[in-house]
Amino acid sequence: WYKPPTPNCAATTNITSESETPMKGLILSGGRGTRLRPITYTSAKQLVPVANKPILFFGIEWMREAGITDIGIIVGDTHAEIKKACGDGSRWGVKITYIHQTEPLGLAHAVGTAQEYLQDSPFVVYLGDNLVKDGISTLVKEFENDRPNAQILLAHVKNPQEFGVAELEGDRIVRLVEKPKEPKSDLALVGVYMFDSTVWEAIASLKPSARGEYEITDAIQYLVTTGYNVRSHIVQGWWKDTGRLEDLLEANRLLLETQERSLNGEMDDASNAQGRVQIGKGTKVVRSQIRGPVVIGENCLIEDAYIGPFTSIQDGAQVVGSEVEHSILLENSKVLHIGGRMEDSLLGKDVEVRRDDRKP
Ligand code: TTP
Repeated sequence: WYKPPTPNCAATTNITSESETPMKGLILSGGRGTRLRPITYTSAKQLVPVANKPILFFGIEWMREAGITDIGIIVGDTHAEIKKACGDGSRWGVKITYIHQTEPLGLAHAVGTAQEYLQDSPFVVYLGDNLVKDGISTLVKEFENDRPNAQILLAHVKNPQEFGVAELEGDRIVRLVEKPKEPKSDLALVGVYMFDSTVWEAIASLKPSARGEYEITDAIQYLVTTGYNVRSHIVQGWWKDTGRLEDLLEANRLLLETQERSLNGEMDDASNAQGRVQIGKGTKVVRSQIRGPVVIGENCLIEDAYIGPFTSIQDGAQVVGSEVEHSILLENSKVLHIGGRMEDSLLGKDVEVRRDDRKP
């Protein structure tokens, strides 16, 4: 699957040193998304909104904030939806190039697929379903100043066996293992990696792992073993891999906690909205209680309803005669007269949940 690099002019004639080549960004938005089924049967998990903004948009904005304006997005089966949502990037003042990965054969495979686009530029890889509270500006600056061959981010986690895990000796990385059964530390690899062109040599050396994927941890392990300078950095603020529902809802909660109150739309006298509640234009709230933090998009209908904390409701959705809490409702979804409370849920676009009074 791997083609060796075509050396570019800068690399062969040394006209421009690598440190002067601007950094590029690569966001991985292919994948299978098996852990988030059934929603990923029909849509891209990277476009699921948290606090009413698609997860992928955070990644693009953080790249822009870090001064990266040339961004490649790896896409797979859900390419059409992702292209439609992000366009050419001009909305953010960046240039987006879409790179098709024919099969989701692993993170290193996805990076390898982008070699022609990345050439000899140093670059940041960002997993399109990850969220890092403080963005990536400081990390990118550090990488640009010190120019190690690679820089990885680590975070302390409770369930290291579900992640790529790093073993350190002091500050030095000794070993990286993908989803170890018996993890030697609680330090998981966060979904942001920075590389220079030595990574191509590492990727070329890879064989599929036991689970049949080309692992990014193996590529980084190659760099460590070969003696390249691989630096690690422990993330202080929160970080979320939103590949599972629990983590997606948790990311939604963390983002809603910091939002401001802003009420648009119409709310009748029999309704009230407590705390940090945002309501978009054209939304009607009738005989309902809303307890923040909650975000409700535009043109929604909330009638005879209770909307509890940590709920995000996207444009055009309806909650009527029902209670909803700690959930994410996508565009035009409906929760109608369910006669109880829906909690900890993610409702896809146009999904309708209602009571059926037919018997039996
Ligand atoms: P993962 O969440 O590790 O993998 P996945 O999306 O296949 O999900 P699951 O494990 O639930 O089946 O992927 C992290 C990010 O990288 C995500 O945004 C998808 C993307 N990705 C690719 O672009 N190509 C790939 O080959 C893989 C494995 C992931």
